[in-house]
Parts: sequence; C-alpha cells; structure tokens
Amino acid sequence: MTYECITTRTEGDKVAIITLNRPKALNALNDQLMDELGAALKGFDADPAIGCIVLTGSEKAFAAGADITAMAKFTFADAYKGDFITRNWETIRNIRKPVIAAVSGFALGGGCELAMMCDFIIAADNAKFGQPEIKLGIIPGAGGTQRLPRAVGKSKAMDMALTGRMMDATEAERAGLVSRVVPLDKLQEETLGAALQICAFSQVAVMAAKESVNRAFEGTLADGIVFERRLFHALFATADQKEGMDAFVNKRPAEFQHR
Ligand code: HXC
Repeated sequence: MTYECITTRTEGDKVAIITLNRPKALNALNDQLMDELGAALKGFDADPAIGCIVLTGSEKAFAAGADITAMAKFTFADAYKGDFITRNWETIRNIRKPVIAAVSGFALGGGCELAMMCDFIIAADNAKFGQPEIKLGIIPGAGGTQRLPRAVGKSKAMDMALTGRMMDATEAERAGLVSRVVPLDKLQEETLGAALQICAFSQVAVMAAKESVNRAFEGTLADGIVFERRLFHALFATADQKEGMDAFVNKRPAEFQHR
C-alpha cells in the first residue's frame, strides 16, 4: 500500500518507524492520515519480524491536532453519524506490540491524545504538549480528558483542558506525561535504542507486560493484580523463561527465541 500522509520504514528489520507526514499542516490529523496510520499499525503488528513500533512526526510538529479545516463545518449529525474519532482513531488501542511515541515540536489536541495512546512517550527538549480545544469551542475528543488526568493528575489536567496552555518537555517529564526528555538531535537515536532493547527481549513477555500495565487503567487494583498473576504464571510455560533464567544462572547473555 502506498501512503500519502505518512511514511514507513524499518530499522534492523525489527523496528517499524511510522512518520506522520503532512508538513504543510503541521501533521494535522485528517481522515486519510488516520486511515493510513491504522493500516500501517495493523500491518506491522501482524508482521512476525517486527518487535516494536515507533510513531514520530517532524522536528516542528508531532501533530498539531485534528485537522481544523476538515472539522470546521461539521454539524452534530456529521460528527455523530460519521462516528468522528472512534471510527479510525481507535486502531492503535488494539495493537499488541509496543508503540513508542517519539515527540518533537507540537503535540496538541488530537496530537497530544495520539501520543498518549502510545505505550510511552520519549520527548525531545523542544516538545510542547497541550489540549487547546477549549479555544475552538470544543473539548478533547480522543481520550484527552481521560488519559491526561491519569498521566498528570487532576489539577494539571484541568489546567491544561480549561486554559488551553501548553506544557514544555521539562514540565511534561516532571508531571509523568513523558518517560524521558532528550536533546532534539538525539531523539531518533534514543528512541531506536529503546525499541531495539525491547525487540531483544522475549516477545511473549513484552506483550504480556504491555497488556498487564494497560490493565491498570481499566479495572480495579484487585482485578489487575489477579490478571497480572495469571500472565506471570503463564510465562513459565514459555521457552524464553527457561532461556532467560538459565542464561542468568550461567552468567551468559540470553538469546530469546520469542516463544
Ligand atoms: C489544520 C493546521 C492545524 C490544525 C496548524 N495548521 N495546525 N491546520 N488543523 N490542527 C496549519 C496552519 O493553518 C498553517 O497552515 C500551517 O499549519 C502552519 O501553522 P501556523 O499556525 O502558521 O504555525 P505557527 O505560527 O508556528 O503555530 C503553530 C501552532 C498553531 C501553535 C501549532 O498552528 C496552532 O495553534 N494550531 C492549532 C492547534 C490546535 O488548536 N489543535 C487542536 C485542534 S482540535 P497555512 O495554510 O496557513 O500555512 C483537536 C480536536 C481533537 O485536535 C479531537 C479528537 C481528535
């Protein structure tokens, strides 16, 4: 499939890199881009050679939000009947391999929400996060009012959603929205390093860890603990657990077979 709004490539045949690519509109997220992103994510998730996916944008913008020109004339009926957002924005939630957001520049509105849908965010020092929808007479619509408070707490999430102000990378790291901040010229290298590290581990264990951490956001603590324990027990049925522990005991590097 050829894409117009994204580009894709692989590194070391293991890491898939998807780059949002509508530079003239600061990677504003329109239907075509989200359809292409969904197709690329699904393709890489199904590719057995791929162990980790990186989602990134340009130096100036990860994504400046949903495409305002496309939304400007929407009626309620257009948004509701067309299932605006859910239709082609939720694919990323069903991707089972890790997805890392490498964010430089603006991650605003739907762009911030898209970054938060990834498993973790590595930010360049020029990154700016925000939910400025309030300035347009709307509110975040792709999980921003739910994921932002879970990431940064109620007070800061309310501040962001009600004033529309931006948060810089330092504040975002302090608040827990991003996992690391790196110099802009090191963003790709640092993200690729993290992705390759993940690829070297047991893929079954990686997928189980992702599934279990996500469970922390969807149910009670008691349910999450049981869920984690079941997966933990199940991993003792894998060849990779035998390899990982044998390698440790015999003081040699592990060579996981991903099964
Ligand atoms: C469509 C956009 C856009 C967007 C920028 N552009 N953001 N087009 N939708 N979200 C376009 C501009 O119109 C302009 O096009 C070009 O990109 C460059 O932008 P400038 O404004 O000239 O750049 P700059 O002065 O550097 O300002 C950057 C900016 C600003 C601060 C990021 O562009 C901005 O405030 N953008 C809107 C951010 C926003 O409100 N996002 C939330 C959208 S609502 P031309 O043709 O003039 O060169 C949303 C709802 C989510 O996301 C709901 C669920 C998905």
